[in-house]
Amino acid sequence: MRPDPSPYPERVRRLRVGLSETGVLLILNAINIRYLTGFTGGDGALMAGPTWLVLLVDGRYVTQARGEAAGTEIFEFRNRVDGIAAVAHQQGIGQIDFESPALSVEEYLKLQEGLPGVELRPLTSVFHCLRAVKDEAEIARIREAAKIAGEALAAVREMIRPGVREAEIALELEYRMRLGGAEKVSFETIVAAGSNTALPHATPGRRAIADGDCVMIDYGAVCGGYHSDETCTYIVGQASERQQEVYRLVREAHDRALGAIRSGVSCGEIDRIARACLEDAGLGGYFSHGTGHGVGLDVHEAPRLAAGREEILRVGMVVTVEPGIYLPGVWGIRIEDTVLVTEEGCEILTQTPKKLTII
Ligand code: GLY
Ligand code: MN
Ligand code: MN
Repeated sequence: MRPDPSPYPERVRRLRVGLSETGVLLILNAINIRYLTGFTGGDGALMAGPTWLVLLVDGRYVTQARGEAAGTEIFEFRNRVDGIAAVAHQQGIGQIDFESPALSVEEYLKLQEGLPGVELRPLTSVFHCLRAVKDEAEIARIREAAKIAGEALAAVREMIRPGVREAEIALELEYRMRLGGAEKVSFETIVAAGSNTALPHATPGRRAIADGDCVMIDYGAVCGGYHSDETCTYIVGQASERQQEVYRLVREAHDRALGAIRSGVSCGEIDRIARACLEDAGLGGYFSHGTGHGVGLDVHEAPRLAAGREEILRVGMVVTVEPGIYLPGVWGIRIEDTVLVTEEGCEILTQTPKKLTII
């Protein structure tokens, strides 16, 4: 069997679309550099001219870069700004469009000093949706990450019972994900019980689960650099009528948003549909974040599914749908899946069923 062709030349080609014939791009975000070259090191710079591409790394990464980014010219630097200036001089560059969100003000000022006569222009738009549509290999990794995570949660579910502390469950879940093949976890695992579930991003602590608690678990695994993201909310012992009602509403918002996802629909429309469900029930004020976000090499990336967002969903995008209701000091319920956008709808990649589960 022939090996899959390298995805990187096509990605660099897309990056260059819209660049002038003499345009030069300076890419500084390590994840974007990985996406464009395959280099997984945590530091470096990538300079892309109309017909040339140079990956700049320090001595720690030279061997790694030669292996991972074979075919890309490697330039070794001692200091990133001096390296960029040296390549700019070599190539006789008059202007650089740089990835402004990834450059500190301090480095920018040094770059200005090191490149007299070179015009530096901040650029964000090229990078915004660069990684949003995933290819088959990327989707396979997200699918695998979601599977590893789902199996780990299934294995720790019996720990969700009165007396067990949030942090104990989080630790066991992370251990199981790593044991199952995750290279790391997507983010600091959230396990929250009782009133802590009213904090959308609670930190697991020493609180022990009590009868009647909501228990919110937001977790994910990373596979080949790609993330999964899923939230399950359980109710322990006995569910109150209010808990059951809010769960039903959040689930409806989640299901309706999923039902509306397909290629061609705007991100803002998906948010509107989820939000309307909760607003109609008088709970809109308790849904305090966007409906979802893209997932890939970063756990949060473009596109954002939030009010007014005009980006259009396209086949191959991977996004979350995660409505939640948070009643301060009382409890909260969030339901989150990661899904793949298709022509006709979407495929749910995360594995855990989202029906109300009273443990
Ligand atoms: N765990 C972060 C999020 O769901 O976006
Ligand atoms: Mn999440
Ligand atoms: Mn999420």
